[in-house]
Amino acid sequence: MSNDALRAIEFFSGIGAFAEACRHGPISIVAAFDQNHLANHVYQTNFGLAPQRRNLESIDARDLPEADLWWMSPPCTPFTRRGNQRDDKDPRALALLHLIDLIPEHKPAYLLLENVAWFRDSKVCARLHEQLERCEYTCASLNICSSRLGVPMLRPRFFILAQRDVSTRQAENTGRKAATICDGIAEPAAMVEKKSLCTFLDDERNMSAALLESLLLPQAELERYKAVLNIVDPQDEEAYAICFTRGYFKCRKASGSLLQMQEGGIRFFSPNEILRLLGFSSSFTFPESMPLSVQFKLLGNSVDVRAIKLLLQPLLS
Ligand SMILES: C[S@@+](CC[C@H](N)C(=O)[O-])C[C@H]1O[C@@H](n2cnc3c(N)ncnc32)[C@H](O)[C@@H]1O
Repeated sequence: MSNDALRAIEFFSGIGAFAEACRHGPISIVAAFDQNHLANHVYQTNFGLAPQRRNLESIDARDLPEADLWWMSPPCTPFTRRGNQRDDKDPRALALLHLIDLIPEHKPAYLLLENVAWFRDSKVCARLHEQLERCEYTCASLNICSSRLGVPMLRPRFFILAQRDVSTRQAENTGRKAATICDGIAEPAAMVEKKSLCTFLDDERNMSAALLESLLLPQAELERYKAVLNIVDPQDEEAYAICFTRGYFKCRKASGSLLQMQEGGIRFFSPNEILRLLGFSSSFTFPESMPLSVQFKLLGNSVDVRAIKLLLQPLLS
C-alpha cells in the first residue's frame, strides 16, 4: 500500500464492485466483510484480499480497522416491494442499523452507501441521516441509473455520500489534500454516448457448446412464461437490458432480460456479459467450478462499477 493511499473498508463486499472500482488506486482496501463464503471466495480470487466472514449485525467496533472511507452496499430486500418494505423491522436491515450505531466510534472521513431507490424514504435512511448529522457530516444523495452511464441497461440505484469536515484525519494522516465528494455531485445527465447492447455480448460462435446449452431457455418454458419475459434483440440499436436481480436464471418474472439468439432460440445472458454490463474489467473471473446459478445470484447482488467510479472521482484523480 502506498503511503498516501486512502484506506477503505468495504462492508457487504459480495464479489467486490467497490474493489473493482479501486483496482488502479489510490484507494487501498484494508478490510472487507461479508457473511457469504462463496462471494468471499470470488472476491479473494480476484483481489487477493480475503473478506472476513462475519455477521455485521454484531461486529464489535474494535474489530474494525482504522479507515478513511466506509463503503456499504447493504441488502436491499427490506426496502423493496418484493421484500414487503418492512424497512427497519426486517431482520436483513439489522446489520446496517448496527453499523450506523458504530459511526460515532470511528467517524471515517468519507462514508458512501448504495441501495435501491426506495431506501431514500425509509426509516433506516432517516436514522442514517440523523447519525451523520450528529457526527457533523456533510451529505449528498443522488440516483444513478446505468443507462445514464452509456450502458444499455436499466439499473437505477440510490447513493448517499457523506463527508466529515475536510480537515479530517484523512488529510492529517496521509498528507493528501482532502477532496470534496459531496459538492456539485449530481445525477449524470445522459452525458455519455450510449453503446449498443451487442458490444457487451459474447460471440456465440466462440462460446462453448456446454455453456450455450446451459443458458438456453427450453421451448416449453418460453411458451409458459412468454408474457412475463423481457426478451431483447441484440441487433436492435435501441435495446436495453433490464436490471439483473439475484433471482435471474431461477425466477422467470422480472429478474432480468433474456436474449434473442442469432441462430434462433432464446437464452440467458452469460455471467461475462453481465460482468461487462456492470463495468467489471475483463480480468475479473469466477472460479471455473462455480455453478452458473451461484454466479448469477452474486452478480444480481452487485453494483455498477462505473457508478462507484463516478462517485469516487474526486478521490481517484
Ligand atoms: C447487495 S449485496 C452487496 C454486493 C456487493 N456490493 C458486490 O459488489 O457484489 C449485500 C451483501 O451483503 C451480505 N450480507 C447480508 N447481510 C449480512 C450480514 N448480516 N453480515 C455480513 N454480510 C451480510 C450478503 O452476503 C451480500 O453479499
